[in-house]
Parts: sequence; structure tokens; C-alpha cells
Amino acid sequence: MGFSHAAQGFTLLLLATSLLVVGAARTIVVGGSENWGLSLDYTVWAHQNRPFYINDTLVFKYDPPSENSTGFSVYLLPNLRSYAKCDFSRAKLLANTTQGSGEGFAYVLNKWRPYYFASGEDNGTQCYPGMMKFFAPPAPPRH
Ligand SMILES: *[C@@H]1O[C@H](CO)[C@@H](O)[C@H](O)[C@H]1NC(C)=O
Ligand SMILES: *[C@@H]1O[C@H](CO)[C@@H](O)[C@H](O)[C@H]1NC(C)=O
Ligand SMILES: *[C@@H]1O[C@H](CO)[C@@H](O)[C@H](O)[C@H]1NC(C)=O
Ligand SMILES: *[C@@H]1O[C@H](CO)[C@@H](O)[C@H](O)[C@H]1NC(C)=O
Repeated sequence: MGFSHAAQGFTLLLLATSLLVVGAARTIVVGGSENWGLSLDYTVWAHQNRPFYINDTLVFKYDPPSENSTGFSVYLLPNLRSYAKCDFSRAKLLANTTQGSGEGFAYVLNKWRPYYFASGEDNGTQCYPGMMKFFAPPAPPRH
């Protein structure tokens, strides 16, 4: 009896713990209702929406290129220096100009590394002065 209760309690504890961990991972639309575009300063947005946790999903939503817009993209910049200078020479393209439409482009923060995001269209001017860049250092999961 005692053992069975203990086992049940342990199972419940495991279940609760796994629910907590699963519950900690969120899906966040970058820019909220403004999506990913030129109408927000994403450094400010990121500051207001921190902390981001490991395994959170960021969703970048943006319109494809049109007659009046070259469109947007999502790049990962390799370090703080390239991020500060909006230097895309060693940047990794995560999503091109058409991949942000519909449900958007989803990216999971699943590594313990600083993430430097920026839009790379218009020869870097969306990154600066357009302010389509932000820094997301994942925080440990909440327990
Ligand atoms: C993040 O998700 C992966 C894959 O689901 C999982 O293996 C890993 O344990 C998770 N990391 C944390 C810190 O929750
Ligand atoms: C593009 O700009 C022109 C001139 O401002 C405007 O007439 C047209 O409706 C715009 N097209 C789109 C798709 O927004
Ligand atoms: C963007 O990437 C998708 C998937 O790889 C591809 O089908 C599409 O042609 C690309 N679009 C542009 C504008 O490069
Ligand atoms: C892009 O920016 C670089 C560096 O500022 C400049 O040398 C180059 O002429 C620009 N290219 C275009 C197409 O504006």
C-alpha cells in the first residue's frame, strides 16, 4: 500500500514536472501585432518581451516582396560585433523574403547561445537605421 502510494505520488510528480517544462516553452510572434517590419524598433520590443527561455519558438511574420517593398528576411548574425555593425558578411540566412508569409517562419531557441537576429534586405539598411534587429539570449527554463 505504502509503496503503491509512493509510486503514485512519484508518477504525479514526474507528470507535473514534465508539464511544467512543456508549459515553459512558448510561441512568440516577433513584433506582436506589428509582425516583422519597419514600424518597430525590435531592440525595444525584445527588451519588453524578455526573458526568452530555452526552447521558446519565435515566429517571424512578414509580407513577401511587392511593387512597393523589397520584402524582409531573417538572418542570424555570428557575434555582437557583426550585430552592432549590421555586417552580414558571415551571417546565416534563416528565412528568405517569401518564407515569412502565411503562418510565418518559426525558429526554436534550442541552444545555449546568444541569438542575434536581423533583416538583411535593402543592403543592410533594414538592420540599421531600420532597427530590424534584436538580441535574444535564452534564459534557463522555469521550474
Ligand atoms: C528542448 O527541447 C528538446 C527537444 O524537445 C529537448 O530534448 C530538451 O531537453 C529541451 N531543453 C530544455 C532545457 O528544456
Ligand atoms: C504602391 O504604391 C503606389 C503609389 O504610392 C500605390 O498607388 C499602390 O497602391 C501601391 N501598391 C501596393 C501593392 O501597395
Ligand atoms: C525561399 O526559400 C524557399 C524554400 O527553400 C524557396 O522555395 C523559395 O523559392 C525561396 N524564395 C526566394 C525569393 O529565394
Ligand atoms: C551597399 O552598401 C555598401 C557598403 O555601405 C556599399 O558599398 C554599396 O555600394 C551598397 N550597394 C548598394 C546596391 O546600394
